[in-house]
Amino acid sequence: MQWEAASLFATPVFKFSMGDMQNLVKFFHETIKNDVGDERDAQGALSHYFSRFNVFEKYAEFSSLQSKLSQMGGFVYRDLMHYQKSGDLYFTNAWLNLCEIGGSQPAHNHVNCLLCGTLYLHADENTHLNFYHPLNNSSFHSELYDRAADDVPNAHGLKFHRREAKISVKSGDCLFWPSWLKHGYSDNKTAGRLSLSFNMMPDKLNVDYQPFMQS
Ligand SMILES: [Fe+2]
Repeated sequence: MQWEAASLFATPVFKFSMGDMQNLVKFFHETIKNDVGDERDAQGALSHYFSRFNVFEKYAEFSSLQSKLSQMGGFVYRDLMHYQKSGDLYFTNAWLNLCEIGGSQPAHNHVNCLLCGTLYLHADENTHLNFYHPLNNSSFHSELYDRAADDVPNAHGLKFHRREAKISVKSGDCLFWPSWLKHGYSDNKTAGRLSLSFNMMPDKLNVDYQPFMQS
């Protein structure tokens, strides 16, 4: 029996290492937490800070980081993902997430953007993010749903049946992924897990219909 398998339509998650983030962790705990006011949304052990805003515009301390992430996002979208005929990327919003032990974030994806990213300001050996296959229980496709025997590669080394993938991260790691891709985590085991998430959008799409942009 001769056979071969082609792996079609791969989904990318890119990881960059941005080095030490202790200054920003300190700034968050000493300043941002104290003056956040109503712009904090708590869901149990997980709190979002400025999730309806662009935190880069609120604090000058983030300006150098903003410019690095902007450059990296452009490289990811235009060079690595090959959207070379689209416009320049801009941040539609950026916010901070603080999660204590036991906290979770259910599977979700982001709107109002085409590229998403999360920079881990404080992580440890237990910190990770799960990504979920688009054809799962919450899919809007009408496919039948079945569950494979387990989530590890099969005896032939193939993993087409996998419905979730775990990416481990360290402090200073920054992940980028396409905005439609669902992600989340459960039962966080990192005390003071702190991340900065952001959404990015090109200012011009390489198609006939363009997104509405407020001037
Ligand atoms: Fe998210």
